[in-house]
Amino acid sequence: MTRRKTHVLAAALLGAGLILAAAVPPATFAQTAATAPPPSRTPDVVFVPTPQEVVDEMLRVAEVGPNDVLYDLGSGDGRIPITAAKRFGTRGVGYDIDPQRIKEARENAQKEGVTDKVTFIHGDIFELSPQELGKASVISLYLLPELNLKLRPTLWQLKPGTRIVSHAFDMGDWKPEKELTVNGRRVYFWRVPERKR
Ligand SMILES: C[S@@+](CC[C@H](N)C(=O)[O-])C[C@H]1O[C@@H](n2cnc3c(N)ncnc32)[C@H](O)[C@@H]1O
Repeated sequence: MTRRKTHVLAAALLGAGLILAAAVPPATFAQTAATAPPPSRTPDVVFVPTPQEVVDEMLRVAEVGPNDVLYDLGSGDGRIPITAAKRFGTRGVGYDIDPQRIKEARENAQKEGVTDKVTFIHGDIFELSPQELGKASVISLYLLPELNLKLRPTLWQLKPGTRIVSHAFDMGDWKPEKELTVNGRRVYFWRVPERKR
């Protein structure tokens, strides 16, 4: 992806009412100055963390609990699976294409004492099979509208009842079961229906 396209993606996130990480109040999870190798390819969307109050609401609306397995696709600093593990004892997996994000997420999991519950894997979410994603009972997203749509056919192959929660972006004509606003941020919630299989 070109530098220009990356800037366009960043602008799209900003246009959706997001703010740059640099402008976010002190992060819940510490950043690290150490570096990891660069991503094997340009990420489809830049890292912008979900504010903690939105994370909390995403977990609430998806009714995440101790028996769930939560997959965060494009997991950034790991805050969604880490919060679910800390609050509810949920097992979680985060995938991110950027090794630096994986490094940070693992460090954050260590700091928060949840390494027995969460795993962070370096990989491209568009290479995940329905079999791998089928291990999740809840999937969380904070990507871009076109990336949600690209994932949609795979999500529709998952077990009926699998819960999907997305910050900021919908799934086109797949109407959400719930839709809400938290401090100006949209949150969407779906369950994989029988008819989509
Ligand atoms: C907007 S951030 C969301 C981070 C986190 N889920 C949150 O809500 O705080 C999107 C993340 O997706 C990652 N990403 C972008 N393209 C990806 C891909 N194809 N596969 C895996 N991760 C990707 C980026 O590196 C970035 O960390």
